[in-house]
Amino acid sequence: MRLHRKSPTTTARRLVGLALAPTLLALAASTPAAAAPRPAAEKGQAQAAQRHGGQDTLRRSAPRDLFVGTAVAGGGHHAEQDYADPFAYDVEYRDRMAAEFSSLSPENQAKWEYIHPRRDFYNFYPMDAIVRFAQENHQVVRGHTLFWHSQNPEWLEQGDFTDAELRAILKEHIQTVVGRYAGRVQQWDVANEIVRDDGSGLRVGPTSEGGNIWITRLGEGIIADAFRWAHEADPQAKLFFNDYGVEGINAKSTYYYDLIQDLKAEGVPVDGFAIQGHLSTQYGFPGDLQANLQRFDALGLETAVTELDVRMVLPENGVPTSAQQAQQADYYRRALQACLGVEECNSFTIWGFTDKYSWVPVFFASEGSATVMTDDYERKPAYYALQSALRAARTGGR
Ligand code: XIL
Repeated sequence: MRLHRKSPTTTARRLVGLALAPTLLALAASTPAAAAPRPAAEKGQAQAAQRHGGQDTLRRSAPRDLFVGTAVAGGGHHAEQDYADPFAYDVEYRDRMAAEFSSLSPENQAKWEYIHPRRDFYNFYPMDAIVRFAQENHQVVRGHTLFWHSQNPEWLEQGDFTDAELRAILKEHIQTVVGRYAGRVQQWDVANEIVRDDGSGLRVGPTSEGGNIWITRLGEGIIADAFRWAHEADPQAKLFFNDYGVEGINAKSTYYYDLIQDLKAEGVPVDGFAIQGHLSTQYGFPGDLQANLQRFDALGLETAVTELDVRMVLPENGVPTSAQQAQQADYYRRALQACLGVEECNSFTIWGFTDKYSWVPVFFASEGSATVMTDDYERKPAYYALQSALRAARTGGR
């Protein structure tokens, strides 16, 4: 999968988004739902659940040992759309997020460019608001992400730093961010997408060509350091590798399999391997997903599905056919069942739950309808496929 935005980000618009975001989120934080003490928040959640299906939600259908998550819209491509910050302003969105999910992932709000936009300034407000919302709604948080080739701030990529300075910058960032949320983030995607698409090695090379700045400048050993620093800052958080294109058993996932074994042999605190799961109905479903998760499980790791969405090439009228909807539902169900079939796969997250805010149409020409609800929060067959698979696992005693 190659990620090319359809329209380039303009720095000016991005800055406007950045400048506004803290204010919007501070506003959101002062709404009764976010700021009220726990009993009122619980009441709010119960009311939200009532308004949007009562007990009939994904989190309430799930087996007790499985967290069902969503990405929380904000930052990234959202800053360029003609809607206000969803998490701050869309009350129905917030209500449904509280009612449906037991885990939240910041879609962009903890990425370097967003949380650390200047060398001497951290923009914590949006991530703080997500963590607070999660606590009030009895949800866990997946932190995303600390060590990546993409969405890094210009000051970092264009900065003329020595290797020693870069190392110090990374250490300070990881310890500051992980330390701030210590005890409140269940899992961190420490390293994101560090392996080349063809599985031939790590992403070494110029940042303009998708090279990982840290590995390119500081060598492979910096991966272990990133995990060690994160572990020091929050010994409770489970520390993950996360990538796309690693659903099946292939060269890329096998590269991780070997790398993680080496790291564990050296005593590096790696806890998990996560599969993003950005799927498209134009390709076959990765039928060996469960077998792949299983081999990582057998290494003593936790596994997770962290960014599932199933996009499709839309017909000219933009409305998926019923055959497309059925195929999408089948992919969602099979991805969930693969996770449910693996003992330590305890976290299953979809990358947004309404098409209204999905990243897919912005990044994949002519594809869309990738989430489980329409723009109007109508549940699609894919939603019901997840719900019934969760219920079956719950009653079947997973
Ligand atoms: C995407 C977000 O959804 C967009 O809002 C943003 O503009 C770009 O990034 N793999 C990842 C995620 O690990 O962080 C990416 O999220 C999707 C691919």
